[in-house]
Amino acid sequence: MRVLPIGGKYTMAKKVKVNKDACIGCGLCVGSVPGVFEFGDDGKAQATAGPVTDEAAVDEAIANCPVSAISEDK
Ligand code: F3S
Repeated sequence: MRVLPIGGKYTMAKKVKVNKDACIGCGLCVGSVPGVFEFGDDGKAQATAGPVTDEAAVDEAIANCPVSAISEDK
């Protein structure tokens, strides 16, 4: 596991992003990894500001999103 200093804080290297144009708001990612995904005011998912704490769960959410709207933010 890599830990990098970003903006003066230490956070995990892995980040995710949601393509809001593709997201249909099914809620799978928000329901399965609520610390990493949340619903925005538009009813679509977005990444929270928090670090990815459970990479396996996030990988599963990426794989299971029905419209492949989630990707790693590199
Ligand atoms: Fe949207 Fe896919 Fe999550 S459709 S709510 S990004 S599982």
